[in-house]
Amino acid sequence: MTTDAADIQSLETEYLLQVYRRIPIVLNRGEGSHLYDTAGQPYLDFISGLGVASMGHANPVLAEALADQAKTLLHTSNLYFHPLQGQVGERLARLSGLARVFFCNSGTEAVEGCLKFARRYWYSQDVHSRTRFVALERSFHGRTLGALSTTAEPGYRAPFAPLLDVTFVSPDDPLALEAALTDEVAALIVEPIQGEGGVWPLSNELAEVITVGCRRSGTLLIADEIQCGLGRTGAAFHSATLGLKPDLMSLGKALGGGVPIGALLMSQAVADAVSPGDHGTTYGGNLLSCRAALVFLDMLEQGGLERVRQAGDRLSQGLEAIAARHEVVQEVRGAGLMRGIAMTEKAAIAVVAGAQERRLLVNRTGGNVVRMLPPLTVTDDEIDRALDILEQALANHTG
Ligand SMILES: Cc1ncc(COP(=O)(O)O)c(C=O)c1O
Repeated sequence: MTTDAADIQSLETEYLLQVYRRIPIVLNRGEGSHLYDTAGQPYLDFISGLGVASMGHANPVLAEALADQAKTLLHTSNLYFHPLQGQVGERLARLSGLARVFFCNSGTEAVEGCLKFARRYWYSQDVHSRTRFVALERSFHGRTLGALSTTAEPGYRAPFAPLLDVTFVSPDDPLALEAALTDEVAALIVEPIQGEGGVWPLSNELAEVITVGCRRSGTLLIADEIQCGLGRTGAAFHSATLGLKPDLMSLGKALGGGVPIGALLMSQAVADAVSPGDHGTTYGGNLLSCRAALVFLDMLEQGGLERVRQAGDRLSQGLEAIAARHEVVQEVRGAGLMRGIAMTEKAAIAVVAGAQERRLLVNRTGGNVVRMLPPLTVTDDEIDRALDILEQALANHTG
């Protein structure tokens, strides 16, 4: 196996489908909040594989559990009863207040399942007119056809049209949202904090309109907690912080700490509409991914949420102080350990590059926002170091 960075890059360029614009760094080792390139250079990782490495890299408790599981049994399929899915399901149901869980393999698949089960619900009520969906502008829900249909970005959508019939409403226009919730809509789907769109928390005002509008019209509510859920904000789910009571919820990213897993949760009323054979996936709830999820949920429930709240406060205070010293910063947004600094697009490009030169990994989202999604295990010292580097990158930017 080659560890030469140039060889790795040229192999990939020759054989892989070119859908990613990769940064020319080859990372082949991690520990805690740090990643190491093939030359052994450390990077402080404040993006954690896009919000996935929730327990830090090479977490020893996770590694031991995975090795043990690999030595015992990896996969049996959903043909048989399963020793771990029920345990993860029980804990997710307890955390969310939703009754039942379906396991899949990724975020987009969890969204896909939510859309299907929303349709299934109305079909079982003999209401065949409720097939449409409402979503928000700036939304990102994934890349498979259903999830893409509810993703707002025209550039992602256009090459794959026609998509499902979705009405997009501005999150800044509660009246338009209220009007869009008609008796032709199966479900409204929202990210409680929009991630890829630029780290935009939904306002309390919009959350209130969602609650009232869904109740009035009977529209089902899908909360996409794939990025902002599972402790990322210091609460189990950010929808609960906003007072939302979703009928369906999509999960992914942090749940497996790096082992691919998605899950969708639903109310008993939605679950009652579903019959055996309606949906399924070969790998869903695979033993390895469930074992990872159990380790993650242990961490979350054993002080993890409180730790994220403390760390999030430290990060937010530091970012606000930086914002006050740099005119180019327009706004700091987010909650817990999901934060974005809005500035000009040119400055955001320069700050991400400047941070990378100083060995801090952050990324740009929504065009002009520098986003941070560190591991939920990030330490105070690491937060302070990231803040120092961001300050230097801002001070040196020429945007
Ligand atoms: C809110 C949200 N929904 C869905 C997805 C899609 O998840 P995945 O990339 O695992 O398919 C993402 C990924 O970034 C996301 O942030």
